[in-house]
Amino acid sequence: MPRLVVISNRVAVPKARGVAGAQGGLAGALNSALKTNGGIWFGWSGQETEEFTGSINYVRSAEGVTTATIDLEHQDIEEYYNGYANSTLWPLFHYRIDLTQYEREFGKGYERVNERFAESALPLIDDGDLVWVHDYHLMPLGERLRSMGVKNRMGFFLHTPWPPSNLFVSLPYHERLVKALLHYDLLGFQCDAWLDSFMHYCWKELGAKVDYKTGEITLDGRTTIARAYPIGIDFDFFTSKGETGEARQAAQRLLSSTRHRTAMIGVDRLDYSKGLPERLDGISRFFDRYPERVRDLVFIQIAPPSREDIGSYQEIRATLEQKTGQINGARSDVDVVPVRYVNKGYPQEELFGFYRAAKIALVTPLRDGMNLVAKEYVAAQDPEDPGVLILSRFAGAAQQLDCDGEGALLVNPHSSDDISHNIRIALDMSLEERKARYEKLIVTVRDENVQRWTENFITDLAEDAG
Ligand code: UDP
Ligand code: G6P
Repeated sequence: MPRLVVISNRVAVPKARGVAGAQGGLAGALNSALKTNGGIWFGWSGQETEEFTGSINYVRSAEGVTTATIDLEHQDIEEYYNGYANSTLWPLFHYRIDLTQYEREFGKGYERVNERFAESALPLIDDGDLVWVHDYHLMPLGERLRSMGVKNRMGFFLHTPWPPSNLFVSLPYHERLVKALLHYDLLGFQCDAWLDSFMHYCWKELGAKVDYKTGEITLDGRTTIARAYPIGIDFDFFTSKGETGEARQAAQRLLSSTRHRTAMIGVDRLDYSKGLPERLDGISRFFDRYPERVRDLVFIQIAPPSREDIGSYQEIRATLEQKTGQINGARSDVDVVPVRYVNKGYPQEELFGFYRAAKIALVTPLRDGMNLVAKEYVAAQDPEDPGVLILSRFAGAAQQLDCDGEGALLVNPHSSDDISHNIRIALDMSLEERKARYEKLIVTVRDENVQRWTENFITDLAEDAG
């Protein structure tokens, strides 16, 4: 297999470890992919420099992953990262045109940083390498590299949803962005829904020839393949964390503090796409409808802060603090606090312990490319006494974890009634049914893992003729 050059905005730089939770699913998955396959990982260091220099910092982690990173200057971070990537594309891709900001300066910064990424990455690419670019920050990168003479096979994977065409066309210069994407040889999406929206856009707005069966999209004499490759977790690595003292202690801490009550858990970056206020409304509805069960249930929401310089993220944080206060204010007693809202992240060893101790997980994003927390929760369960996964039907993971109605309990995250109803079902579910659902879920989570995702994508990238 040829060498892999992975390029993403966020890189799991070993020395930056410790900021648990804030890095999200992409960095963890790519770290696993590179650990198995070797290669080099290029991206932003997460650091700000006074003036952009393009100088590359190499680090080799204990796990054998080599990262090559550049620092960005203040204006780049503002216009590209906080601006176009996270105030324009992220909300738009999560169907939130109400939060989407369109500013000319953001677009210019995005183009400029993609050009800078291309110039800096160019010397790292040798003939025959496979180039694999990730996520919405770097959609034009392939085209920039092509214009610099790169002839290598190049693939792109989108970790977020792709919105329906009638939302996507609200983006100024939308054609330009998609035409740039069509310079890659292979495009990967998390599930069929996002793939279908993309193909529909190419057909309807660009007049491309689209073959829904093979995934071929042909425009101006060039053919790109688009397919769904659902990302998974690093199952063996993640479950090995269950053997650690940290995991056991974390589980013990949670159990001893909740005692005879059922612990229900949520774990999400503090992001408006995760449906956190709606989740709290659902819990509030549950306590309204079943007041006698306030003593049965403790909800623990772990929510590490993310993208804190952006206004919409500051607002969601304030909303959550207020809502938590309201629920607890109305429902607490000297020995009962129904909602624990924890505004920090934990290393995965501890998360494993929390997942295992919690008998219900509430994973209710309003829209999510995949959602790895749902899969990690399943992986962490005790097969003899597994918990119940309540999952949003709008997460990419729902396509795999529904298991024909016999896996996760799927909910509409906008409906407090639906969330409340499913909490009650989960609380009252028999051990027999919990085990039956777990048996279905664990097969998918174990087999459709991150190694398979990487292998499927890079095999297609290496083989398909563009
Ligand atoms: N995570 C973590 N510590 C935390 C919270 C989350 O390590 O305190 C990790 C979690 O284990 C998962 C990732 O962050 O691997 C979140 O990925 P997901 O796909 O669910 O969402 P994203 O943040 O990428 O939108
Ligand atoms: C999501 C995105 C990733 C991103 C992560 C964390 O998973 O798809 O591209 O790295 O969130 O967000 P951040 O802005 O901190 O990189």
